[in-house]
Amino acid sequence: MKIGFLGAGKMAEAIIAALVERRVVKACDVFAADIASARRRSLKRRLGINTSAVNAEIVGNCSVLVLAVKPQHLAEVVAEIAPRLTRRHLLISIAAGVTTADLESWAPGARVVRVMPNLACTVGRSMSVYTCGAHAKASDRKTAARLFASCGEVVELAEKHFDAVTALSGSGPAFFAYVADRLAAAAIAEGLDADVALLLAEQTMLGTADLLIQTGTKPADLIAAVSSAKGTTAEGMKVLKGSDVSRVMRDTIRAAARRSRELSGR
Ligand SMILES: NC(=O)c1ccc[n+]([C@@H]2O[C@H](COP(=O)([O-])OP(=O)(O)OC[C@H]3O[C@@H](n4cnc5c(N)ncnc54)[C@H](OP(=O)(O)O)[C@@H]3O)[C@@H](O)[C@H]2O)c1
Repeated sequence: MKIGFLGAGKMAEAIIAALVERRVVKACDVFAADIASARRRSLKRRLGINTSAVNAEIVGNCSVLVLAVKPQHLAEVVAEIAPRLTRRHLLISIAAGVTTADLESWAPGARVVRVMPNLACTVGRSMSVYTCGAHAKASDRKTAARLFASCGEVVELAEKHFDAVTALSGSGPAFFAYVADRLAAAAIAEGLDADVALLLAEQTMLGTADLLIQTGTKPADLIAAVSSAKGTTAEGMKVLKGSDVSRVMRDTIRAAARRSRELSGR
């Protein structure tokens, strides 16, 4: 399979690196087009892939095309390549807020898959959610799942869930980073050095996520398991549960989901 990236920025680089390093695709079968010559040079140097300054040029070489420009540039890029698209092409868009219907209106009849990955794909720990357009085939679903499994976890969901997905796993790295930063700041106030406090917060966040995933434990059960009566965790949990942190988190996700709806013109 030959795969082309239209837009070779941060996300494209992370996805290409995962694909090549995990040998899902050979470097010689990856093509990337970007208007910035510095981006093209840096990708060629780091990953040994083929690059081009012209989007339409890579369409003929590839059967899978990953649309990885910013959402505001996507209509123009799809219009540029649409005349060259044939039935052998699968379009995979990672642009936030751009629906499969938008893509199909710019490239009528195209086989389209929409994916929402997150920045953790740069370390192979993305949560990627995908949904299929009206003309996508069963094999397109498998292709998208296989490609994005190289950079983390993948699930398929109906497109109606994409605003919530964008809010939770798309924007989520910023929210979790904020929590790590605030917990570390609180521990600094208790006397820890800043770098130690951040390491402890980060590693505890990572370990807790792994613990929940690997053991299948529900968050409430984990909390109960570590909250012995009159112990330190129970004392801290009393403060958390008595606070409005739950409402703040609901408002955070609600605001991000609302913005996702606005960006997709709804
Ligand atoms: N970053 C995230 O956490 C994240 C998460 C999920 C989804 N996404 C989606 O991923 C997509 C890419 O995001 P990113 O953060 O990787 O953006 P980025 O780093 O800005 O990469 C986009 C690249 O496309 C280039 N470009 C602009 N117009 C172009 C055109 N007409 N033809 C070819 N290349 C063009 C840009 O060049 P210039 O810089 O010179 O304009 C830039 O190098 C976005 O649609 C975003 O919504 C991002």
